Amino acid sequence: MAELIVRFVPSIQKVRMCNSGTEATMSAIRLARGFTKRDKIIKFSGCYHGHSDSLLIKAGSGALTHGHPDSAGIPAAFAHETIVLPFNDGLALEAAFAAHPHKIAGVIVEPYPANVGLILPAPGYLQYLRTLCTANGALLIFDEVMTGFRLARGGVQEIEKITPDLTTLGKIIGGGLPVGAFGGRAEIMDWLAPLGPVYQAGTLSGNPLTMAAGIAALNLLEEVDPYPRLERLGRQVQGALLAAARQKGLPLQVPQVGSMFAVFFNAKPVRDYATALRSDAKLFARFFHGCLERGVYLPPSAYETAFLSTAHEGPAIDRACQIMTEAFNAL
Ligand SMILES: Cc1ncc(COP(=O)(O)O)c(C=O)c1O
Repeated sequence: MAELIVRFVPSIQKVRMCNSGTEATMSAIRLARGFTKRDKIIKFSGCYHGHSDSLLIKAGSGALTHGHPDSAGIPAAFAHETIVLPFNDGLALEAAFAAHPHKIAGVIVEPYPANVGLILPAPGYLQYLRTLCTANGALLIFDEVMTGFRLARGGVQEIEKITPDLTTLGKIIGGGLPVGAFGGRAEIMDWLAPLGPVYQAGTLSGNPLTMAAGIAALNLLEEVDPYPRLERLGRQVQGALLAAARQKGLPLQVPQVGSMFAVFFNAKPVRDYATALRSDAKLFARFFHGCLERGVYLPPSAYETAFLSTAHEGPAIDRACQIMTEAFNAL
């Protein structure tokens, strides 16, 4: 498994397996803090990195859908070490680094945030993030738990040609079983126990059942190379949704990349958490139920990303597009 991950994701020289995405991001943050000997981290509002205390602050996903972007039970002292910034805002990043010189251990980001719907980075934004992290001695952590192996074998970092210091993975690399992993430059990973002083371990980490399922999934992805086909199908869905909205005179944004897309009833492009929340969630709910009644099951929240799967073939997508168009017309 480690050999496959290292081969597919060039920024990862060494990898540590764990049991969930939450464990992966939690441990990557601890490693960044241990390696840099700094305490503060930056995350972005709406990015969800699992449910560890440092990261469940202004998170998206289910926490947002149910109206609790912050969780009870997180000590204020923990939250104090987490700086939350808007995504796609280079000036806010600069200001945060300037306000906390030599204090920021790392920046964790979903490079294509997908837990408030799907938000795509403005041109140059991720590159600027890389530049600022390097200039300030902070580690750049790409959370590719969702995007890893979904958009490309090398994740968003392959598409955007950016080398993070650490990467977190999960979901697909377990082939359906519980999994997480984090990895990066050997020089950083060597700080992990038992070689280094940053503790991390787990009874079920790297268990043979999950590894067998994950290896099978990654081998299949290598054999089949589903990504060009998923991109075509994703564009087809985006085109159909936008055409139906135009016909109906409804404002709609459909950010899409590969197999991922989101449906925002919003007149303006969604560039961050605040603009995502300005979308019409009630209209989304009516659209969702219109699709469900007709046989298309979208994610049941205005703030979730929809995924196509390798199991979706052309005729299924043709039919889904037709049904979503009908649901639009019925709004
Ligand atoms: C980007 C991202 N990071 C981390 C996690 C947490 O992973 P897990 O649910 O396996 O703990 C998720 C889960 O959806 C996620 O989307």
